[in-house]
Amino acid sequence: MPMKNLAVIFALLSSLLGQSVGSKDIPVTPVEGESWLNHLHRKFSDTSMGKTWHAGPAAPMPGQDSAAWQEKLSQGFAARSMTLHGADVYRLNCRGCHTGSGHGAPPEINSVVDPVRSTSVEIIMERMKKAGMDMSRANAAVLAKQANAAILDRFHKGGQDMPPFPQLSETEVRSMIAYLRQLAGVPGAEKQQIAITESPSHVGEQIVKSTCHICHNAAGPNPNPQQILEGAIPPLSTLTTRTSLPEFVRKVTAGNPISMGAPSEPFRGRMPVFDYLSEDEVANAYLYLTLYPPQK
Ligand code: HEC
Ligand code: HEC
Repeated sequence: MPMKNLAVIFALLSSLLGQSVGSKDIPVTPVEGESWLNHLHRKFSDTSMGKTWHAGPAAPMPGQDSAAWQEKLSQGFAARSMTLHGADVYRLNCRGCHTGSGHGAPPEINSVVDPVRSTSVEIIMERMKKAGMDMSRANAAVLAKQANAAILDRFHKGGQDMPPFPQLSETEVRSMIAYLRQLAGVPGAEKQQIAITESPSHVGEQIVKSTCHICHNAAGPNPNPQQILEGAIPPLSTLTTRTSLPEFVRKVTAGNPISMGAPSEPFRGRMPVFDYLSEDEVANAYLYLTLYPPQK
């Protein structure tokens, strides 16, 4: 390749890698290690993790629909930063397990609503009053502080069955907690919402590490159609060569057929459709996987 082309590619890559607006404290890093389900030794068929969506439309079979799905990416998406609110941080990182309402899938996945209500002094005092106990505001404030610390600790260390979120900056966590308080009906929470500017790669990083990595290992062998039929899930390191950008975006947002069996035939597959992610956001996940190749 002529040196000039290399220089152009290098300049493009370094300008993309240099973007980490709004979350300067945490650099973007590649996704690593086994999937969360493998980590828990939990089978795809025995869990709601990553599948709590409203199942979304089934993917039509190829041939039936070639005109029906049209990619609608914004021009220049890969170079433009995005403005996220706490609701978006929750959507990219938590919704696949905890649902849009925050109620989760009990008993496996607890609701986030109750623990977040316990971070409100007003709500604690009201509860105590209902239970016939008088509690001082100062004591309620101590309990509220403990509840808040427990939630923050959970993002750093994870829970018993919940992954940790080292990819989230302090600002992202603060913004998300403000949203969770609004979701949980804490009085005044709607006035505390924070907007954050994020680089495309960091948006992609959050989606991949928090949502896709629930089921997909970071790296490993590329399964053939027979192995896919038998239940193999292709590792994240293979996705950008297995699929083009439009196929990838379609697989996630609307469903895309995948070759299974021998002789191989296209099938709907078992992966859920994440119709709450926008096409630009999913394209950012593809960009992130390309710029930060997944590690062992
Ligand atoms: C891979 C699935 C998964 C993801 C993603 C996930 N959680 Fe959880 N979460 C769980 C499970 C399972 C539990 C209950 C068991 C445990 O504590 O580990 C839980 C419990 C919780 C609890 C405590 C509930 C209680 O009763 O004390 C909170 C709060 C919570 N999650 C918040 C979040 C937030 C906020 C995010 C996004 C940053 C998130 N979770 C992402 C699976 C997940
Ligand atoms: C609940 C588990 C689960 C989650 C979460 C998940 N996937 Fe998948 N994914 C699968 C399974 C299973 C397959 C194998 C094909 C099938 O059955 O649909 C697959 C296949 C794929 C393929 C198809 C590869 C091909 O050759 O056609 C792509 C692309 C993909 N996933 C991307 C993603 C992305 C991006 C995310 C995160 C937004 C994600 N997946 C989250 C389970 C999951």
